[in-house]
Amino acid sequence: MAAAYRAAALRNLSQKVQRKSLKHYRMKAHYMLRWKKTTYWGVEVMKDRMLGRNRELREQVAVADELEEPTIILKNGTYLNTFTKQWRRANVWIFKDRIVYVGDELPENSSSAEIVDCEGLYLVPGYIEPHAHPFQLYNPELLAVHGAEFGTTTLINDNLVWNFLLENEKAFSLLEEFDRHPVSMYWWARFDAQTVLKDESDFFSTDHVLAWLNHPSVIQGGELTAWPSLLKGDDRLLYWIQEAKRLGKPVEGHLPGASEKTLTRLKLLGVSADHEAMTGKEAIKRLELGYQTGLRYSSIRPDLPVLLEEMLAEGLQTFDHVTFTTDGATPSFYKDGIMNICIEIAIKKGVPLADAYRMASHNAAAHYGLLDELGCIAPGRVAHINILETKDNPRPVSVLAKGEWMLKNYKEQAAPKKIAWENYGIEPIAFDWELTLEDMQFSVPIGLNLVNDVIIQPYAIKTDVTLDVLPDNRDDAFLMLIDRKGKWRVNTAIKGFTQKLGAVVSSFSTTGDLVFIGKSKHDMLHAWKRLKALGGGIVVVHEGEILFELPLKMAGSMFDGTMEELMEKESYFKNLLKEFGYSFGDALYTILFLSATHLPYIRITQQGIIDVKKREVLFPATMR
Ligand SMILES: [Fe+2]
Repeated sequence: MAAAYRAAALRNLSQKVQRKSLKHYRMKAHYMLRWKKTTYWGVEVMKDRMLGRNRELREQVAVADELEEPTIILKNGTYLNTFTKQWRRANVWIFKDRIVYVGDELPENSSSAEIVDCEGLYLVPGYIEPHAHPFQLYNPELLAVHGAEFGTTTLINDNLVWNFLLENEKAFSLLEEFDRHPVSMYWWARFDAQTVLKDESDFFSTDHVLAWLNHPSVIQGGELTAWPSLLKGDDRLLYWIQEAKRLGKPVEGHLPGASEKTLTRLKLLGVSADHEAMTGKEAIKRLELGYQTGLRYSSIRPDLPVLLEEMLAEGLQTFDHVTFTTDGATPSFYKDGIMNICIEIAIKKGVPLADAYRMASHNAAAHYGLLDELGCIAPGRVAHINILETKDNPRPVSVLAKGEWMLKNYKEQAAPKKIAWENYGIEPIAFDWELTLEDMQFSVPIGLNLVNDVIIQPYAIKTDVTLDVLPDNRDDAFLMLIDRKGKWRVNTAIKGFTQKLGAVVSSFSTTGDLVFIGKSKHDMLHAWKRLKALGGGIVVVHEGEILFELPLKMAGSMFDGTMEELMEKESYFKNLLKEFGYSFGDALYTILFLSATHLPYIRITQQGIIDVKKREVLFPATMR
């Protein structure tokens, strides 16, 4: 009996083991397949790059050995060695897109090289913007070219908009087209949309995120605006963070006002960096906990001068883990450049010169594990070099990006070849639906009350919103968010945006859906008609008259023109809205962030009106 029992138990156990191992192998096969699918693109790109790279490296050694001639020689200059933090006289030999030699010697034969005498001039590494949102009305190429004319030759870019606009395959081939641009363009892999989407899982699945993380042009995870979910136990986010770290890619946080405990928890969970410190003490706390710390100088939060004053007053001695960021400023903020402005502020505030330049170059490259490529003037590095008239003026006289002149003796050089946007379907939106007065029914009792440009509180709507025109003596206006494909709408009211404006409509928004704000339903319809004809953009109408229009021909969110034109349009728009009663700093940010759930307290999103803290839909979207 006992033997029979033992035999049955053994049989049972062996079946269990078999079942387990079958499951184990099935799981393994599943993950292998998924890994193959998500990394295939990255591996292929890597392979191509590696073969070409070997040949280039051999050529560079041949130049250093004087078997081949450099393409450019910057002779007799004084350069900042960012490793020793010292200024040194040297001749810099460049071959194609790389620096191949930095030292006392000049090649015997240099008949084919362009020789630039840098006597009395200073050479510093091309500047790096480590946290760019390259879609704030400008497009990434426009920002890159504009920045390069002021010495910012590397942008590390948000990928959020590509998530909404492009399939991965298209997006990755666009990233590769950007690889050929003289400005170094790197990208992030977002883990969340910083809003509530109709179908979030379509955009942020594990396959999708891992495919991005594995791409060689993608060098960080985040920025992580969904960190509250991570703290609440979202293990999928934690898995993505671990994958990013496993690939040697840091994860950027987004931690405004975080306490020491929260910073500690997020450090434990793998967040590498943060750029949201609003005081010197907060910045130092981040440094002490081992965060790479970005000091922000953006149009909406130009905190850098105060941060530096306070950090210096606290006696901070080393800035090796500090960088700057302009965090996606609106266009006219960049009138006089990007990172050069931050360096200038740091120098004025008393940061040692070498550190001020390092914060916009070497430190950022080191954080991303790219110091062998970027961020310094040394052999093998990409030839991003700024030539300065004086050590303490970071605005360059001349700029080299990947060995190409972007600026020479203060003269802009011909803009580099344009990205073929039409190949990616980045073109005017063809709206194939109509908006009517039927859509303009406002019955929701709760509206959005602007506390400042971006903080919004709920309020009980007291104005009669059934009227066609809302009265001037109250500061509430109609607010609608409508699906860019016309499938759904969310209608409510907004307080504090305008006292009297008929209508503004914008396809520039968090998700590319349409934002309507105004006092008059007829002006809103009129603005829609014009927006539709433009294929996207921003249109302002008052009493039946179009007062302003900004065509955004690139997918309804990006401008296809010069930075100067864009800055002029942007300033006009902001002043116009002020005339109509907008009393905060930046109406564009207000429009952009109406759906942004990383900001308090209430938002209008694809799903409806959302209580941000509770993550609750207060009033759902209406299907059309
Ligand atoms: Fe940011």
